[in-house]
Amino acid sequence: MPGDPRPIGVFDSGMGGLTVLRALMARLPNEHFVYLGDTARLPYGTKSAETVQAYALQATRLLIEEGVKMLVIACNTASAVALYLLQEAWEPVPVIGVIEPGARAGIAATRNGRIAVIATEGTVRGGAYARAIHRLKRDVEVVQQPCQVFVALAEEGWTDSPVTVAAAERYLKPLFGGKGAPDTLVLGCTHFPVLAASIRKSVGDDVALVDSAETAATAVAAALDERKLASAPGYPGQARFFATDSPQRFARVGEIFLGRPIDARQVELVDLRAL
Ligand code: DGL
Repeated sequence: MPGDPRPIGVFDSGMGGLTVLRALMARLPNEHFVYLGDTARLPYGTKSAETVQAYALQATRLLIEEGVKMLVIACNTASAVALYLLQEAWEPVPVIGVIEPGARAGIAATRNGRIAVIATEGTVRGGAYARAIHRLKRDVEVVQQPCQVFVALAEEGWTDSPVTVAAAERYLKPLFGGKGAPDTLVLGCTHFPVLAASIRKSVGDDVALVDSAETAATAVAAALDERKLASAPGYPGQARFFATDSPQRFARVGEIFLGRPIDARQVELVDLRAL
């Protein structure tokens, strides 16, 4: 079989989705990726569902015009409020979000049936994680906590600093303090996996931290196989980057999330407003 050489489009509000791209590149080394970070309009997490839907539609249109064979909505906020809209808009191109894979991973990790989810305000407001978890398993208790400040701390590169630990204590101690506390914490935002060390200090060693990037990569791999869209083995995949604001900042901050250097000259500045 010749395989499908078209790229997979990965969309996020900014650079945090590079944690998902990193997992995708590790899991699917032969695939090409086109990543778009809507850095000019970040954060999505504090905006209304209507605004995020409009932004997500514009952003993914650019990726569709790039000829992608599949779209991955790496942004939890956009997955929470716009996934169905995007699936309908871009049919027959498959559109995969990160909420359901995260919910699945949370259920697989919990032993006591209590799961905490931390995310942006927008993701928590819509209750998408709780719904996704309950769709898969009814008798699970879910508590949700918005942790908006984490987004800025991650972008600042303060991945393991006293300020981040203090923020984690403030957000998480009330959830994990007493008896009957959750044993699983879903990191329901692209930015949070890089703060895992600080989060761990505040919740202790017994709580399972769930990062949806890995499970999202597994879901993408399965969807490629199922739809016969996988590329041919043997050729290493490439990644291209688009950003809606400063390529220099994208490259500098993006490195924190991708875990390897990004050359700013390979980041193309795009304007989504006309789309
Ligand atoms: N990408 C967003 C998410 O995963 C976090 C950053 C933002 O608020 O735009 O929810």
